[in-house]
Amino acid sequence: MNKVKKAIIPAAGLGTRFLPATKAMPKEMLPIVDKPTIQYIVEEAICSGIEDIIIVTGRSKRSIEDHFDKNHELEADLECKQKNELLEIVRGVTNLVEIHCVRQKEPLGLGHAIWCARKFVAGEPFAVLLGDMIIESEVPCLKQMIDVYEERPGSIIAVEEVPWESVSSYGVIQGDMINKKLNRITNLVEKPKINPPSNLAMIGRYILDPKIMDILEHQQPGVGGEIQLTDAMKQLAADQNMYSFRYEGKLYDVGSKLGFLKANIDFALKRDELGSGLWEHLYELTGGAAQDAGGMREARRIG
Ligand code: UTP
Repeated sequence: MNKVKKAIIPAAGLGTRFLPATKAMPKEMLPIVDKPTIQYIVEEAICSGIEDIIIVTGRSKRSIEDHFDKNHELEADLECKQKNELLEIVRGVTNLVEIHCVRQKEPLGLGHAIWCARKFVAGEPFAVLLGDMIIESEVPCLKQMIDVYEERPGSIIAVEEVPWESVSSYGVIQGDMINKKLNRITNLVEKPKINPPSNLAMIGRYILDPKIMDILEHQQPGVGGEIQLTDAMKQLAADQNMYSFRYEGKLYDVGSKLGFLKANIDFALKRDELGSGLWEHLYELTGGAAQDAGGMREARRIG
């Protein structure tokens, strides 16, 4: 069995839900506190044992490439001013792992973005981590999936139960239950408008068999006129084992404004230098309702 060592991070979408911020800046560079979204995702991949990462970038995605590249001028300035802590942070980003980039010339859909990285995959199983989905968890979400893959080779799709009324915003799976966490997938539907087969939604983490690239090569546009990864996965599932996996963790869709704001608040509250100031602010805003939670947090911190 091949190990999963490669990951694709698609980050070439237009980010229309976040306009005008994303007119000239990719949404994957929007910061959660002080770190761009995409760095959290790269870190999840590395902590899961991924050795090679390719980011699919598009128009105006130059800043993503620059972020993971060396910045000699900035490093020299920080060194000169003996700002060693900052210097370490800046160098740390560059030293994370070797990151490759490939361009998706037109945003034709997620399936097309993945297909743009076909040469990088070179016949090996690979992971996909969407560039705008952050998952906070004790064990990185992708690591949880790789552990499943090692027991059950095949494609593994992370899912989460979502409210039935919002199912039409997601790609959802249909499957036969193996245990509480695993289903064998029998069908997948992108953004079902009627009769959704389940409320188990795909949340942006996949381990895929490289055969998906052959399918994507001929994939016709689907929902929204985009080349959908879900449609290609449906074909793959007809041929090979594909499992849905209920991961453990908290998902932030930072490509949506509400998800972005929630992530910023939650991550900032956990930071020593920001937490108490933010709790105070929330206390004032909520007329004291945030007090209990704040008190609990303080108790945890002291304990
Ligand atoms: P989304 O559908 O959330 O991205 O795709 P989007 O199209 O940029 O967002 P909105 O709806 O217009 O706000 C999920 C991931 O797939 C990438 C996106 O960058 C995002 O990380 N993607 C999407 C591509 O790389 N290429 C595409 O053609 C479409």
